[in-house]
Parts: sequence; structure tokens; C-alpha cells
Amino acid sequence: MTPDLHIRLASLSDAVEIARMSRRLIEHGLPWSWQPERVARAIASPNTNVAVVREQDELVGFGIMEYWETDAHLVLFAVRPERQRQGVGTSLLTWLEASAVVAGSERIRVEARRDNFAARSFYNEHGYHELRIKRRMYSGTADGVHLEKWLRTRGDA
Ligand SMILES: CC(C)(COP(=O)(O)OP(=O)(O)OC[C@H]1O[C@@H](n2cnc3c(N)ncnc32)[C@H](O)[C@@H]1OP(=O)(O)O)[C@@H](O)C(=O)NCCC(=O)NCCS
Repeated sequence: MTPDLHIRLASLSDAVEIARMSRRLIEHGLPWSWQPERVARAIASPNTNVAVVREQDELVGFGIMEYWETDAHLVLFAVRPERQRQGVGTSLLTWLEASAVVAGSERIRVEARRDNFAARSFYNEHGYHELRIKRRMYSGTADGVHLEKWLRTRGDA
């Protein structure tokens, strides 16, 4: 973890940069589904946290997590390439996981492209188990992997 990082909830003014980073780092080669308007809706949504790290007025990383009845869903997550492998992703994920615990979530679900070994390794490192591979999950072309992490045993207080 990098203790100096300032993680905060996104404001609407972050939406364009988040959408562009998603396009470049996550949705490359696929239709651009997380355009600024959709990101803005997530920022405004009461059951979603959009967390950002900014440095010198530049977006360094972000994570979007939705909270449902028992599960939280990590929908989008990325760190700027120049700042990868420096613990930024770990700090952001830890922040979002703590929010999921506070929200009462039992489990966090996340998906990654099958060929995204960086993300799979990152999530595995943080206790996410690979459940299954889903063929052509992304826009009918790229295969995906479903992962999950249990935060507490079902039925625990
Ligand atoms: C996945 C991602 C968010 C990781 O962010 P990060 O800030 O680099 O992660 P951290 O520095 O906290 O890494 C923690 C650990 O995860 C693992 N890990 C992270 N990136 C890795 C990589 N490229 N290859 C192998 N293991 C990796 C390592 O165990 C790492 O610990 P180490 O650096 O001490 O070896 C980042 O690579 C990224 O933004 N990728 C592009 C977008 C994306 O794929 N998002 C996820 C799918 S939505």
C-alpha cells in the first residue's frame, strides 16, 4: 500500500477522464460502453461508489463498485500505466473493499478479460478466486473470467 495516496469519492468533473481511461485501458478493442454520461450516472447513483486517486490534477486511478443486496460488484478498475506496480491498485481496492464491508456486503464479484493476466494476477493476489471462464463475454468476442472474494461467511452478523 502507498500511505501518501489520497483516495476520495469522484465528483461529476472526474467523469470524462474516467471514461477516457476506461476506453484506453479496459475497453480497448471493444465498443466504448463506459462513456462520460454513463460514468456520471454511476457517480450520482446511491448504490455505487466511484473512487479516484488524483495527483497534480491528473487522474492516477479509479474504481467503480456497485452495492447490491448481498453482493458488491467491482465494475471498472484501472491505474494509469506509469503508476502501475507501485501499490496504487492495492490501495484503491482496499478502500473499496472496506466500503463493501461497511455496506454489509458478503461477497465482491469482478470480471476480467481472460487474456488480462495483470488483472487476474492482481485479483488473485488479493484473495479473489476464479470461478469460471465465460466464452465471448465481452461484446461477443473476448473471453472473460468471473472472480469472487468472500468478505464474511453467509449468515454471519
Ligand atoms: C490490474 C491493475 C489495476 C493493477 O494495478 P497496480 O496499481 O499496478 O497494482 P499493485 O501495484 O497494487 O499490484 C499489487 C500486486 O498485484 C500483482 N500484479 C499487479 N500487476 C501485475 C502484472 N502486470 N503482472 C503480474 N502481477 C501483477 C502483483 O502481485 C503486485 O504485487 P508486486 O508489484 O509486489 O509484485 C493495473 O494493472 C491496471 O490498471 N490494468 C489495466 C486495467 C485493468 O486491467 N483493469 C482491471 C480489469 S477491469
